[in-house]
Amino acid sequence: MHSLILFASGRGSNVQAIIDYFRPRQDVQVALILTNKADAGVIDIAKAEGIPFEIITRKRLLDLDYLDYLDSFQPSMLVLAGFLLKIPAELIERFRGKIINIHPALLPNYGGKGMWGHNVHNAVLAAGERLSGISIHYVDEEYDRGDTILQARCPVHEGDDADTLAGRIHRLEHFYFPRCIAFLLQE
Ligand code: GRF
Repeated sequence: MHSLILFASGRGSNVQAIIDYFRPRQDVQVALILTNKADAGVIDIAKAEGIPFEIITRKRLLDLDYLDYLDSFQPSMLVLAGFLLKIPAELIERFRGKIINIHPALLPNYGGKGMWGHNVHNAVLAAGERLSGISIHYVDEEYDRGDTILQARCPVHEGDDADTLAGRIHRLEHFYFPRCIAFLLQE
């Protein structure tokens, strides 16, 4: 049995896509959802799906009092699906090679501190890029810098704004992210 721990700060559409993808699989379980925001949409998803969730504020993330709790799930993978806080080095060390993140652009461009949500898409549009996409990568001590696992591209259309581009990128994410996790689990 593979256990997944999902981290999210927002609406959680990627979390939902991962849950839906693995629902028919008896050998993969979303064991826990972590969020740093008490009003994040992802909490409604956790409740609706009957998946345990935990709120880990910025302060608590640094206190590291939850490391043994996470360990108790013996997770195969920790998946950052729109989690906005920097992961502390101790957490990376404990689960090295098992933490992956998704970024809504083609890294190494348009990554790093402050590059999240519409900031990313607005920067891509302002640069006049004809292509954008997604990057799934291992998490290390630097923001958006770990080894790339998978990238997928999509066009940037004339007349796109951050909303239309974000929508296209979300569709890419929802397709590739669960499948990328499934691939990594079989390795
Ligand atoms: C996604 O675009 C992801 O790439 C980024 O944050 C967004 C989260 O969206 N890291 P959602 O909460 O999964 O809808």
